Amino acid sequence: MTGRSGKGGSSGKGGSGKGKGGSSGKGTGASGAKGSSGRGYGGRELGVRLKSARGRTHSSQLWLERQLNDPYVARARRDGYRSRAVYKLMEIDDKARILKPGQVVLDLGAAPGGWSQLAAERVGAAEGKGRVVAIDLLPVDPIPGVDILQMDFMDDAAPGRLREMLGAPADVVLSDMAANTVGHRQTDHLRIVALLEAAAHFAVEVLTPGGAFLAKVFQGGTEGEVLNLLKRHFSSVKHVKPAASRSGSSEMYVLATGFRKREARDEVEQGS
Ligand SMILES: C[S@@+](CC[C@H](N)C(=O)[O-])C[C@H]1O[C@@H](n2cnc3c(N)ncnc32)[C@H](O)[C@@H]1O
Repeated sequence: MTGRSGKGGSSGKGGSGKGKGGSSGKGTGASGAKGSSGRGYGGRELGVRLKSARGRTHSSQLWLERQLNDPYVARARRDGYRSRAVYKLMEIDDKARILKPGQVVLDLGAAPGGWSQLAAERVGAAEGKGRVVAIDLLPVDPIPGVDILQMDFMDDAAPGRLREMLGAPADVVLSDMAANTVGHRQTDHLRIVALLEAAAHFAVEVLTPGGAFLAKVFQGGTEGEVLNLLKRHFSSVKHVKPAASRSGSSEMYVLATGFRKREARDEVEQGS
């Protein structure tokens, strides 16, 4: 991942973005091409194998080789996006059309900023049509039209700060948050589930009727309790695995659309 500045705190709208100030905060890719939809979703391009490990551990050597051989990494660089992850959101949104001009979007776990860049583009945030609010533990370089908060989403103060920054109900809540793994399976699993639960609970507090929630999940999909919460609050809940999500990983996304108005929710709850 690239594009971290080391800057902290909350930054306002209209930063210069990375690179040479494209309206989306994208750097200038080699081709200058925009990361719009309909360009396919990659294909093998490179065949790089590093000759020397140069003091790297075996796993970081493998990671580096995978990055160098990853068509999405190359494509992100060309298109001026900060992460290969952007193509996951792009593919999901090209099909489901959750991002629309003028919307208010919340991006949880935003660094280095690929999803925020795309969301800002699609809602027209740089032109003042829509807005994106983003949070991450790590710093995120400014992106025009995106309000960035560097904070732990699990901090008790985070929901209040985000609500203030949103200033209005959100149309879309995105969460690509992923906890750092510690290698202990159960601990890792619990941390992943805790993030998803917190994101889902916050989403149902801040979404506007008709709104959408998209979040990263692992290990066979959404856990029972969160899944029930989402089914109660949304008219459609499904799991999707975009092509850019590495096939060897258990990562996928839960996409919940059609956030229900309170009365409609009450009817579902009484019926169940
Ligand atoms: C896969 S990356 C997100 C990539 C991003 N969607 C993009 O396109 O650039 C996951 C992010 O979640 C963030 N994260 C994990 N736990 C978090 C927490 N408790 N609060 C805020 N951010 C968190 C990590 O710092 C990391 O930057």
